[in-house]
Formats: sequence, C-alpha cells, structure tokens
Amino acid sequence: MYLASSVLLSVGLLGQVIFAAPGASTLKACKELSKALPDRVSFPLSINYYQEASEYWSTALRDIKPACVVLPTSAPEVATAVKVLNKYPDVKFTAKSGGHDPNPGHATVRDGVLISLSEIAGTAYDKSKNVAYVKPGGEWNDVISTLAKEGVTVVGGRLGIVGIGGYLLQGGISFLSAQYGLAADSIVGWELVTANGTIINVDASDEPELAVALRGSGSQFGIVTQFTIQAHPIGKVWGGLRIYDDSKTEEVFKALHEFVPGNNKDEKAAIIVANLFTAGSARSFVIFYFYDGEKPSTTGPFADFLEIDSLIDITNTQTYPELLKANGFGASLLNSRMSFRTTTIPYITNNPGIYAEISNEMRRITKDYTEDILHLTSQCSIDFQPLSAVVGKHTEARGGNAMGLTATDPDRIILEIQCSWADEKDDEVVRQFSRDMTSWVERRIPAWLEGQDNSEDAYLPLFMNDAMADQNVTGSYRDYAKLKSLQLQADPEGVLRTRTGGFKY
Ligand SMILES: Cc1cc2nc3c(=O)[nH]c(=O)nc-3n(C[C@H](O)[C@H](O)[C@H](O)COP(=O)(O)OP(=O)(O)OC[C@H]3O[C@@H](n4cnc5c(N)ncnc54)[C@H](O)[C@@H]3O)c2cc1C
Ligand SMILES: *[C@@H]1O[C@H](CO)[C@@H](O)[C@H](O)[C@H]1NC(C)=O
Ligand SMILES: *[C@@H]1O[C@H](CO)[C@@H](O)[C@H](O)[C@H]1NC(C)=O
Repeated sequence: MYLASSVLLSVGLLGQVIFAAPGASTLKACKELSKALPDRVSFPLSINYYQEASEYWSTALRDIKPACVVLPTSAPEVATAVKVLNKYPDVKFTAKSGGHDPNPGHATVRDGVLISLSEIAGTAYDKSKNVAYVKPGGEWNDVISTLAKEGVTVVGGRLGIVGIGGYLLQGGISFLSAQYGLAADSIVGWELVTANGTIINVDASDEPELAVALRGSGSQFGIVTQFTIQAHPIGKVWGGLRIYDDSKTEEVFKALHEFVPGNNKDEKAAIIVANLFTAGSARSFVIFYFYDGEKPSTTGPFADFLEIDSLIDITNTQTYPELLKANGFGASLLNSRMSFRTTTIPYITNNPGIYAEISNEMRRITKDYTEDILHLTSQCSIDFQPLSAVVGKHTEARGGNAMGLTATDPDRIILEIQCSWADEKDDEVVRQFSRDMTSWVERRIPAWLEGQDNSEDAYLPLFMNDAMADQNVTGSYRDYAKLKSLQLQADPEGVLRTRTGGFKY
C-alpha cells in the first residue's frame, strides 16, 4: 500500500521535475537551507514537499511548484531561513499560512523557496491580560474552538476552514466586525521575522505607527510567527445559512439596503449576501447570518431579513465553533480553480436599486459562459458584505489600520466577486469576468454618488483579503505614501518588496 502510493507519487512528481527549472542559485540556496535547518527542508519526490506544495484552496495553485519547501517549527528557524535567503539576492521566496489566497504568486513561488508555516500553529489564552497568542499555521476552526473553552474569542474568519496568517495580515472581516472592527484592529502585538532575518516584537502601544501599517499591509513587513490579539467574550450564538431562489431578489436587496445603516445600531448582527450565478445563468442567494446572542433580534432590519421565505434554512442557536465549522463545510467540498476580486462601493441612501443593477450586470457578463453545457460546474458569485460606519469607529478606538478606516466613516459595502471553474484553459476568461464587473461598478460609482454630499463617500479603499493580484490595493489606501515610506524603512534592500509574494507598496 505504502509502496504503491509512493511509486505513484514519484511518477506524478517526475512530470513536475522535468518541467521545473529552478536556477542554479536557487538550488544552492535550497542546499544551504537544508544544511542550516536539518530535517526542515524538503525537495521534490518527498511526501512533505508534495503535501506543502499542493495544499492550496484553489486547485489552480497546486501546479505551481517551488524548488524546495522550508517547514520551520519556530521563529528562530524562520529567521535562519531568511538570513540564508539574504545571501541569495536573486532567489524568490514566499510565506504560506493557510494557502487560501487564490492569487498565483502570493503564497506560491514557482521554482523559488516556499516557507510554509503549517508547523507554527496553536493558540493560547492569557486570562490575566485577556489576550490570545495566535500562531499563523492551521485554520480558524482550531483557534476559535481552543478559545471557546475559556469563554472568549478573537475577531476572526467567518468560515472556519480559512487560514490564519494571511487573513490577519490583510485586515480580515468577521461576524464580529460591527462590534470590534476588522480582525487586525484587535491585534496588539506581532512577533515577526524582518527582511534581514531579525526577530522583533512589535507592541501596538509602543509603536503605534508600525501597528497601523501591520493592520492591513499583508506580507510586506516581515514573516509573522505570532499575533497577540485582544480577546472578547463569547457564548452561544445564532446563525447559519439560508438559500433563496431568484424570485426573492427584490426582497433580499431591499433588506440589504435597510441592514447596512441598521447594523450601526444592532452591532451584534452580521450578514454575507452571496448572489450566485450558476449553470444556465441561474441566479440564487446564499445568505450567511450571524447574531452574537442565543436569539436574533426580533425587530429591525436583521429581523426583516429573517422574514424572507427561504428554500433551505440551516440557521440555529449553537456554539461559535459549531457555527464556523458548519459555515466552512460547503466550501471545504469545493475542488476548483478559484479567483477573487473586490471593489468597495458607497452606501447610496436614496438608491436601493444599485444592488440589482450590479447583479444584472454580473448575470449579463457570465450568461454565455454559464449557459454552455461544458461549464456545468462553474459558478461565480458577488458577495455583498456590509462595512457599516460603526466598523471605523471601532478601528479608530483601537488605534487605526492601514485601510484607513476612521470614526467619521460613512456606510460602505465591500463586494467580493468570486468564481470557481474546472478547466485550466478558462483561467483568463473567468478572471476577466471579475475584471469586467469591477470596472463596470467603478464606472458607475460617480453617477450613484451624484446628490450625496458627504465627501467621505468617495473614499473607497480596496479590501486586501478579497482582492485579485493585479489590483492596486495599497494604492487605494488614504495613507499610501506614509505606509510606503514605513515599508521602505523596514525593508531597505527590498527583500520582501521585490522577492516575495503578495500585495506591494
Ligand atoms: C473559503 C474562504 C472564506 C474566506 N472568508 C473570509 C472572511 O470571512 N473574511 C475575510 O476577511 N477573508 C476571508 N477570506 C479571504 C482570506 O482572508 C484570504 O484568502 C487570506 O489570504 C487567507 O489567509 P491564509 O493564511 O490562508 O493566506 P495564504 O494564502 O497562506 O497567504 C496569503 C498571503 O499572505 C502572505 N502570508 C501568509 N502568512 C504570512 C505570515 N505569517 N507572514 C507574512 N506573510 C504571510 C502570503 O505570502 C500571501 O501573500 C476567505 C477565503 C476563503 C477561501
Ligand atoms: C498604486 O497606486 C499608488 C497611489 O495612487 C501609485 O502611486 C502607484 O504607482 C500605484 N502602483 C501601481 C503598481 O500601479
Ligand atoms: C535588521 O532589521 C532590523 C529591523 O528592521 C534593524 O533594527 C536592524 O538594524 C537590522 N540589522 C542589520 C544587521 O541590518
């Protein structure tokens, strides 16, 4: 059994080996890494290499093979790896936590050095300080279930299967964001390996400017080996998902329009409205509901949502870890090539019609493709994610983030355009649907904004967690210039800026 499978593995990998062409300096760097970190570096044909180089959410990333994989178990081992890599300036490398970012070249590095943090995992709670120490490997299910035993939680993923490191570094939107801000806003300390391989500890109260930069700049300040996160109390919660057919479109969008400002008064409520476009250009909705309490509110916009008749209803009262597990279940079955793209839209008080406009345009863009019998398993969705004004209030109270949310923010909605498909030859076709969609929205925004006189409405920063690699996320941040100069200070040689994956300044 073991022999048979390892033979199969070798045959499968030989194909990769033949095509792969790491340069001589990369091979040398890998060799030096394996001397400096015995047993921590693996090469093609080994099980560790195969696992780490294949564990990605989007199947499209599983073919992008590194020259070698470093599997450190501690911050000093990460530091050693980065120090060795500093000697090889033309060798590309990148860090991976959960591997959920679907962008090629972010947590993957073709023919370079992959530093996988899957062994740097685990969560501990310090009751006296009410903080959690969270390591980047593993998934949110682990963190949330460990903390729930202490009656606390941290602001984190909404689907338990999502990775931790990348999520927290890019900002992170949570069911708890209307109560406490983005996930990164609750981070008060970072243990990180800097560009030159030094381990530093950043304390948000000692270095407030760097803390702001670390909340939403992605991978550009170092490899984070531990986050210290302010904990929040949690008990039983109410939530789950409901599915609706196309006939409920008008009701759903009406409820969404009421919910966004309503969330400012009912901070315990959260929703994700996912508008799905599937085979035969069928349109439906999956709505994730969350309420931080045993029972949802019985009046107000959240309650109005719950009045809409659904086809399937799996909402109920449960523990928070149970909810996150259930939410991730469907997504864990997907085995597809995936793409994300995002845009942020203003809340247009007197125009509840813009969501249907957006949805109709997405249906138009994807129609021919989804109607083709060859694409039965492909789908796209637009997720409408409320970013109500109250989120910025919490951001500011906690010291601020790179995305530049503030206490004077207006309501906004983050759109995530997600597609999944089977065939490699469709990669560019499908990614282009999302690009067409966001450029259409961005062209429409000025017209939607006419008649709204709050100048803050025009500040529409992109949300990094949901973005596509070619989007200029950091360039959309209010304090781009200041953040960029901090990045230049932290990484004067451009080790991270020019050699690793992820969004750049
Ligand atoms: C099913 C699903 C559900 C999701 N739900 C949410 C949600 O509720 N809210 C939300 O905000 N986002 C959500 N996302 C998006 C998610 O936040 C991003 O995909 C995020 O990148 C995942 O984190 P990861 O650890 O898997 O990142 P990875 O794919 O491992 O890495 C992403 C980027 O971060 C860098 N990186 C990773 N770890 C480190 C580290 N320790 N130090 C330095 N750089 C690092 C990598 O080099 C790469 O550039 C979801 C994604 C999926 C697939
Ligand atoms: C991103 O946007 C910033 C700010 O507008 C700009 O200065 C920068 O050149 C842009 N970067 C790219 C790669 O387009
Ligand atoms: C390495 O980087 C750290 C932090 O960015 C800095 O303080 C230190 O001086 C650098 N060390 C060397 C040897 O350059």
